[in-house]
Amino acid sequence: MTQADANAFLAEKARKVERALESYLGTWKNAPNTLREAVQYSLFAGGKRLRPALALGACEMICGDDAPALPAACALEMIHTYSLIHDDLPAMDNDDLRRGRPTLHKVSGEAMAILAGDALLTMAFHVMARDARSNPAAIQVIAEIAEAAGAWGMAGGQVMDMANEGQRIDIKRLILTHALKTGALIGAAVRAGALLAGAKGEAIESLTRFGEAIGLAFQIADDILDVTGSEAAIGKPVGSDVANEKATYPALFGLEQSRKLANETAQQALDALAEFGPEADHFRALAHFIVNRDR
Ligand code: IPE
Ligand code: IPE
Ligand code: MG
Ligand code: MG
Ligand code: MG
Repeated sequence: MTQADANAFLAEKARKVERALESYLGTWKNAPNTLREAVQYSLFAGGKRLRPALALGACEMICGDDAPALPAACALEMIHTYSLIHDDLPAMDNDDLRRGRPTLHKVSGEAMAILAGDALLTMAFHVMARDARSNPAAIQVIAEIAEAAGAWGMAGGQVMDMANEGQRIDIKRLILTHALKTGALIGAAVRAGALLAGAKGEAIESLTRFGEAIGLAFQIADDILDVTGSEAAIGKPVGSDVANEKATYPALFGLEQSRKLANETAQQALDALAEFGPEADHFRALAHFIVNRDR
């Protein structure tokens, strides 16, 4: 399993979800042009499309076809993009570069950035609801994604992240913050794909453990890249966490120990895939990618 395998897998799934997102945005005929353009600006600025790739990949792993997870994959990327737009606002991380472009609030103003986020979050549930009749698992997936994005998921995690600024917190609180602000949506992406494919029993339990572990590993790596990354590669400002006195892995443990903890967490993700055969190889490659990435 190499970085090239992970990159090829991400690229294949990105093409699919981007095509579906474009065709979905084509149905926004009654939206104000300024709002549609703001959403397009942030949604089609690149991005690794990791959450859609996880949903599509889990679905394909279980039933041999990723199509049943395409609406959820679009919804996950819409929710994720909304979270980035709001995360960058002056009231939150106050960053002016995202996905290699000036942040939306810099080009369209704060009000439009808030509203584009509102529209993305809301319409994510529209994409999934439109499709829910054709798959009995869809209603459960909608409920799980709502929880993962909501008050005891991403939004709750963002509240903890803000409250932690300037604080010397313990590892339990740091893990909980990261699990909520980032891990919940990543975990929900894996479960969504598996559930929509009809997964049950041990398969769904193992994939849930996999999702939790890569979610945490992903945010540890994100914290590390905020210190060691290059702005050109990550497409966002380096050093933002230090400027905001964020409680991150490098701030609490230093870089070397953070890398060790990220690798241990990725290993837990790999262990969770032990019962699967070659059909899980894409996910094994992703677990390596997540902690060795430069973007
Ligand atoms: C960045 O997410 C925000 C976090 C939750 C760490 P990504 O690194 O997935 O951002 P994009 O989608 O590739 O821009
Ligand atoms: C953001 O975490 C998590 C979100 C829910 C958006 P960060 O604030 O570390 O994400 P980046 O580094 O700005 O992408
Ligand atoms: Mg943040
Ligand atoms: Mg941020
Ligand atoms: Mg970060």
